Amino acid sequence: MYILGVSCDYHDSSAALLLDGQLVAAASEERFSRRKHDSAIPSLAIAWCLKHAGIQARDLGYVVFYEKPLLKFDRILATSVDYYPRALPFFREALLSWFSEKLWIKSRLLKTLGVPSERILFCEHHMAHAASAFYCSGFPEAAILTVDGIGEWATATIGEGRGREIRLPLEIRWPHSLGMLYSVFTAFLGFEVNEGEYKVMGMAPYGAPRYMDKVWKLVRASQDGAIELDLDYFSYHVTPRRAFSAKFLGLFGEPRSPYAVDQDQHYADIAASLQKVSEEILLRMARAATSRNGSKRLVMAGGVALNCVANGRIQDEAGIDELFIQPAAGDGGASLGAALWAWHTVLGRPRGTPLRHVSWGRAVPTREIQTELEVTGASGVALKSQEELLDRATEDLLAGKVIGWSQGRFEWGPRALGNRSILADPRRGETRDLVNTKIKFRETFRPFAPSLTEDSAARYFDQPLECQPTAKFMLRTAAVRSDMRIRIPAVTHVDGSARPHLVERMANPLFYGLIRRFGDASGHPVLLNTSFNLRGEPIVASASDALSTFFRSGLDVLYLENYRIAKPVSG
Ligand SMILES: [Fe+2]
Repeated sequence: MYILGVSCDYHDSSAALLLDGQLVAAASEERFSRRKHDSAIPSLAIAWCLKHAGIQARDLGYVVFYEKPLLKFDRILATSVDYYPRALPFFREALLSWFSEKLWIKSRLLKTLGVPSERILFCEHHMAHAASAFYCSGFPEAAILTVDGIGEWATATIGEGRGREIRLPLEIRWPHSLGMLYSVFTAFLGFEVNEGEYKVMGMAPYGAPRYMDKVWKLVRASQDGAIELDLDYFSYHVTPRRAFSAKFLGLFGEPRSPYAVDQDQHYADIAASLQKVSEEILLRMARAATSRNGSKRLVMAGGVALNCVANGRIQDEAGIDELFIQPAAGDGGASLGAALWAWHTVLGRPRGTPLRHVSWGRAVPTREIQTELEVTGASGVALKSQEELLDRATEDLLAGKVIGWSQGRFEWGPRALGNRSILADPRRGETRDLVNTKIKFRETFRPFAPSLTEDSAARYFDQPLECQPTAKFMLRTAAVRSDMRIRIPAVTHVDGSARPHLVERMANPLFYGLIRRFGDASGHPVLLNTSFNLRGEPIVASASDALSTFFRSGLDVLYLENYRIAKPVSG
């Protein structure tokens, strides 16, 4: 039976297709529509999933939506009543979008897919997050922690999974939300909410957490994982226009300008303080989740589970043996959870194989590359074998070139894990600024991740990363060994940490081969890896995206499947 999971209408819409409980295709809509964080009904991603499986919509056993719209609407109504009349502007705007579109998701899905209405199911939002984490983990039992900004009412849940059963008995409810706390500071620091949270995390190591006591004024956290915000500091629950109140500004001063380019110590210190407090809260939640049912295993999902620094601390300090975080932990990954929930919980089918890799998107066919090369007039050389591809790419990397690398099916989740990546030699310190400014056109403080062969992790990190799924999916930070920091400066953050991506030979043989070959020649089986996109754009998906990004950036060479494409020599 085919089951299609769908998420949309908030941000990062996506589709995920299962066949008899096993994932066959999954993709974010933004990769096809080219609109970053596209929240529209994911008709392009759905059409591609169906085409990939060779089926029509009428062949779908179920279509499962990643939240319950009526429950969410109930929360909006109740909030408006609770905070009347302050919440009037919020309510007015919410009503418009809900009555014009969101409430009618069932009929919109029916219209898009043409399936009978009894085949459409709705899964509670945090259950979708929980299901995506637990069912993909492969763990027979585990504690479950989900944390995000907001779903219907819940903003965090704690529970457990056993076999195919999931229970989420504890929840924190709107407007109390750790995700919202982080997002409010994201807005205050001049970044876009639901996008700039990574930037806050990247900024934090440049600051000192000297405002932690001020951040603690905003939030009370107990040892059992519960949190309560002091709502006097916030206004996100009453107006869509501003997230923080005058009282908040009284504590932290004027917001950082969205156009600020230079690093300002005051704001970096605020970012560092927020990050530290968030880590403390998440650690308490993680400990509460595991101690509740005595499990040594924890699974996590929800947008906040993409906080790599906190994840590193949970992995190392929460007293657990195993941690699994669904690589598409945000709302874009909840479509997968919704589909898995239908298969295991509604239909009661047994567990399947765990999620071992993220290569679930569309691959670029050769004929598409040939057509694009003709259209653009770019000169591409078809390499004859994988050996030649690896040789040439290694040569380019050793010569200091920055390469675009588009191979196989694009990744599920926000991270580029060697299928749609920009790669460079990590031994050159200057590479970092070069890639940030000339290639990705973004802030110079943004860090890059090292992709390294799994078997060489112990050489670069003290933590036992080899067995950790969080390191395989680039979901945690870890301290680079002090003697190695000067060896791979382009991927070591200012505080000596890095966000490692351990590459398994089985999970991605071609990328593993490239890192291995680079290591044989350079002595370091490590590559600088960042997502193949320009600032503000989705990661490339098609041949046309890859070529267009290549020509609009300072990238030196593009490896698009077996084609090596260079830029014409000017002058
Ligand atoms: Fe969510």
